[in-house]
Amino acid sequence: MSDRRAQGLPSGGGDGTRAVRAGLPEPVKYEPTLPGPVFAAHYHLPGEPTGPYTYGRDENPTWTHLERAIGELEAPAEDGVETLVFASGMAATSSVLFSQLRAGDAVVLPSDGYQALPLVRAQLEAYGIEVRTAPTGGDTQLGVLDGAKLLWIETPSNPGLDVCDIRRLVSEAHARGALVAVDNTLATPLGQRPLELGADFSVASGTKQLTGHGDVLLGYVAGRDAEAMAAVRRWRKIAGAIPGPMEAWLAHRSLATLHLRVERQNATALAVAEALRDWPEELGVRYPGLPDDPSHLVASRQMRRYGCVVSFTLPTRARAERFLDALRLVDDATSFGGVRSTAERRGRWGGDAVPEGFIRMSVGAEDPEDLVADVLSALDQSAQ
Ligand SMILES: Cc1ncc(COP(=O)(O)O)c(C=O)c1O
Repeated sequence: MSDRRAQGLPSGGGDGTRAVRAGLPEPVKYEPTLPGPVFAAHYHLPGEPTGPYTYGRDENPTWTHLERAIGELEAPAEDGVETLVFASGMAATSSVLFSQLRAGDAVVLPSDGYQALPLVRAQLEAYGIEVRTAPTGGDTQLGVLDGAKLLWIETPSNPGLDVCDIRRLVSEAHARGALVAVDNTLATPLGQRPLELGADFSVASGTKQLTGHGDVLLGYVAGRDAEAMAAVRRWRKIAGAIPGPMEAWLAHRSLATLHLRVERQNATALAVAEALRDWPEELGVRYPGLPDDPSHLVASRQMRRYGCVVSFTLPTRARAERFLDALRLVDDATSFGGVRSTAERRGRWGGDAVPEGFIRMSVGAEDPEDLVADVLSALDQSAQ
């Protein structure tokens, strides 16, 4: 039974209430509300080696609390969902792909997803798995789905911020016998709940807005199919792709402010996107929350909040570099989702099919007026 019910936390409660209480154990007199990190490679284990806590690579009480917390946010109305935490988003991603697919299987991956996916693709192919790709927007996944074992979607996609219709793709994939995994990194569980939309797995990097301070690497997989999740768990054990207790505890502590951060950052992201859209040069701004964004209609049917990432394109690489140099409140750094705004010229990595002047900006928790003024001033200065 979940701790949520043990504590009488209403599954229908608001996101803020759920976020501050997520995963907390039953109160124990003189114990802290959120128990501190448990540093243990092994546990006292006389007799038969049965769980819950035997060896530190298999289980840890600090993970258990965090896993319950994330499960309560990803699937507040469901009891049968299992969540597993990992050392990073890529560890979580690999655990699903490599535990579910065998030589001879086919998988559909996004052609415009996170830039480490091509590396994963090469590894899957080396193991004899057929990899097909399709862009995130436009339902073209349907054309390559027949005979696939797994459909992997990333929505909104990083860095292009395209969106696909999760319900539609799930229904078509299930009709053809394929499982569906959704990378929910950009949205966070407060922005989108893929399992409720029918997906088999919700997978994410917790390194981003979920933890939100740019100081933790973490990943998770949530799923309701016990057999599939047992295979994911086995993969975590085999690969040893486990988070440290300190990271898991920091992540849980950060969840308490998830709702506050998401509300603030996403509202400011919309303000930044609007300011960019209204700038006299055409910048090709993308933000799923902008009513005139090509993704908005689909996004509005499945997302409850639209994320803190905005993308746009400056005419040249030199202009983009001048723009980044001129920003005062926004660090030139990769990753996204933190309380301090960051931006980068995404083309510098060479892995994404984006123009040289393409900027991915992650909006933080600064005052919206300050941030918008900084972005507009940097646009102005960099134009000269
Ligand atoms: C959409 C998406 N998925 C997965 C990952 C991988 O996460 P991590 O860096 O925590 O391994 C990232 C990282 O940027 C990402 O943006």
